[in-house]
Amino acid sequence: MTTTNIAHPEYNYKVVRQFALTTVLWGIIGMSVGVLIAAQLIWPALNFDTPWLTFSRLRPLHTNAVIFAFGTSALFATSYYVVQRTCKVRLISDKIAAFTFWGWQAIILSAVISLPLGYTTSKEYAELEWPIDIAIAVVWIAYAYVFLGTLAIRKTSHIYVANWFYAGFIVTVAVLHIVNSQSIAVNEMKSYSIYSGAVDAMIQWWYGHNAVGFLLTAGFLGMMYYFVPKQAERPVYSYRLSVVHFWALVSLYIWAGPHHLHYTALPDWTQSVGMVMSVILFIPSWGGMINGIMTLSGAWHKLKTDPVLRFLIVSLSFYGMSTFEGPMMAIKSVNALSHYTDWTIGHVHSGALGWVAMISIGALYHLIPRLYGKTQMFDLKLVNHHFWLHTIGVVLYIVAMWISGVMQGLMWRAVNADGTLTYSFVQSLEASKPFYFVRFVGGVFIVAGMLVMAYNVYKTVRGAKPQQEEYPEAA
Ligand code: HEM
Ligand code: HEM
Repeated sequence: MTTTNIAHPEYNYKVVRQFALTTVLWGIIGMSVGVLIAAQLIWPALNFDTPWLTFSRLRPLHTNAVIFAFGTSALFATSYYVVQRTCKVRLISDKIAAFTFWGWQAIILSAVISLPLGYTTSKEYAELEWPIDIAIAVVWIAYAYVFLGTLAIRKTSHIYVANWFYAGFIVTVAVLHIVNSQSIAVNEMKSYSIYSGAVDAMIQWWYGHNAVGFLLTAGFLGMMYYFVPKQAERPVYSYRLSVVHFWALVSLYIWAGPHHLHYTALPDWTQSVGMVMSVILFIPSWGGMINGIMTLSGAWHKLKTDPVLRFLIVSLSFYGMSTFEGPMMAIKSVNALSHYTDWTIGHVHSGALGWVAMISIGALYHLIPRLYGKTQMFDLKLVNHHFWLHTIGVVLYIVAMWISGVMQGLMWRAVNADGTLTYSFVQSLEASKPFYFVRFVGGVFIVAGMLVMAYNVYKTVRGAKPQQEEYPEAA
């Protein structure tokens, strides 16, 4: 990371502050909806016989809120912050940056209204209808302009590696969204995909998997490459490895989509390519994870006293866990057991709650006090409480889903000597119920942690003077 002592420019921290605070708000809302749908799977009466409270409508609301409201707001906040600090220059346009903030909030609100009302394209993670899709494309292109434009006017000769990851994420998400959303509108809130049959499925999972690879992974790796070294006060373990990590990750991820479509009408060879590329993907994923964790070399003792660093480092362990599990689940014979079961849900949340949420929370705990002229959060003890509430919650969630998932897979394939099924589907649901309860309890822990965070953030920012310039300690 550059340490050149250039005169401190006035950075645009206003938009960073706005996105950082809304990340906390959307995190609480999105995860609370997660807890509600987890509860509905145990007590179906919780839909109160009201169409807009049914599981089928709230589930996409949950995924959109956590991925596009919580996760993406964290990416907006940190990318705008990191690009200014590492390029030693203010964002290229305050007006367009403000447009991305208000535009993104408007998109989230339209999702919050349209999904419970039942408007959906029925494509997972791309459910929003065509007028909202157009708005997403416009705001995203504005985001790309602000981020890439700021890189272009940088005052440093070098582009720090975190920016490569952020840029890769921004450009790829634009392409994925625009290609996958091509549709023909039949009225103002209904459209049909222009693709059909197996091609539609292939495009959808090319989009879906790369939303995981570029939004839920590359963007957050950008976060890792800035905030882990900053919080640990150590340089990245191997800068060379970080560059290899970037190129290996972006060139491999893009091929792995068909692992979502094993044993379907998709041509068999494409499934095999997807499987092989997914298995190879293990290597750069673990290279990056090790690079992040080893950044702590010589500073391991800090983990004992710094709960913010603990969030960041434990997130990397979950990243390692989910990127070991993912390639394994991509192997066709393993997928034959895991597909359609809660094992997938366990994998998703070890990535989503363990990796994505923990690295974002750690980055916010580093960022928020500095945006308000302070060196740390109001109460570090509360950060520690949050860390334990979250970690226990995630472990309860994913262990419950792993057990329930493997059990479901085994029950569904069990056959009697005469070839009939040993268990009915309902029996497998009954057997899953205790694990759904454990997941629900895990979710309550996690949301409780987020509320502790909200209180701590409130106490940190209340009455504080917003910062426009460098960190107090770096001045
Ligand atoms: C308190 C925390 C959370 C709880 C209780 C929770 C709960 C749930 C539940 C019950 C489902 C539906 C599972 C099913 O259909 O069987 C689900 C799906 C999902 N959640 Fe969460 N969730 C939480 C946090 C998150 C976060 C932070 C993210 C992402 C950053 C996330 C991403 C997803 C995704 C992508 C799915 C769809 C998975 C699939 O289709 O395979 N969740 N969640
Ligand atoms: C090397 C890395 C990874 C590989 C090869 C991989 C592979 C897989 C596989 C094989 C599935 C199951 C597909 C199915 O049977 O339907 C899956 C599902 C999923 N994974 Fe991963 N995974 C990886 C990392 C991650 C990470 C880090 C995250 C989250 C941050 C994540 C999020 C998801 C989601 C959301 C799904 C569910 C998609 C759906 O059906 O709705 N994955 N992944």
